[in-house]
Amino acid sequence: MRASLHVIFLSVVIGGFAFWIVCVASAADVSVSEQTFGCILDWPQVRNTRIKHEDPKELAEAMRIFRDSVPNTEYPVGTILQLVPFEAMVKHPHTKFPKTNGWEFFALEVSAAGTKIRDRGDSVVNLSQGKTCLSCHQPAARFDFVCEKGHGCAPIPFNDQAIHALQQADARCAKK
Ligand code: HEC
Repeated sequence: MRASLHVIFLSVVIGGFAFWIVCVASAADVSVSEQTFGCILDWPQVRNTRIKHEDPKELAEAMRIFRDSVPNTEYPVGTILQLVPFEAMVKHPHTKFPKTNGWEFFALEVSAAGTKIRDRGDSVVNLSQGKTCLSCHQPAARFDFVCEKGHGCAPIPFNDQAIHALQQADARCAKK
């Protein structure tokens, strides 16, 4: 009797450990491909920024952090942010990109045929400005590198109207 209880206990412990390993491994694996991206207008938005997460609960959490500009709070791993169709930020675990608290920057090429990844990583350069994404987003470290307005980043050359127009002109969106 005692021996079989012992076996049950052990298997629960081992099973729990295996489950934990699977969870940790999958949390560490945010895979991003060209298929991850699509018509920017299909994603929910907070003010100008489009926000995506596969998990509806995590999406709601990311939207809350963004909407309320919550400081010293990390976006859920798997969060994707886009302001304009040709740039994106994707949140990975901190260990993957320690310099950016886990954020990977993307420079995208967008056409009616779909999305091409031009560059990705933590040292991507914005072509029109010749600066790294990180150099501008760094001052917003307290807001998990999200610039928005008033988080200390150098401004981009697009006002709200221009951002709106760029989103509306996304060539991946079906013309209606
Ligand atoms: C000149 C500084 C500058 C550079 C360079 C820059 N950004 Fe930004 N970025 C900003 C500012 C400022 C905003 C907020 C603009 C707004 O909301 O009106 C922003 C917004 C964003 C957003 C929406 C979320 C947020 O942080 O507000 C994403 C996503 C983004 N940038 C990605 C990138 C990527 C990817 C690159 C490099 C390819 C890049 N940025 C280069 C300044 C910059």
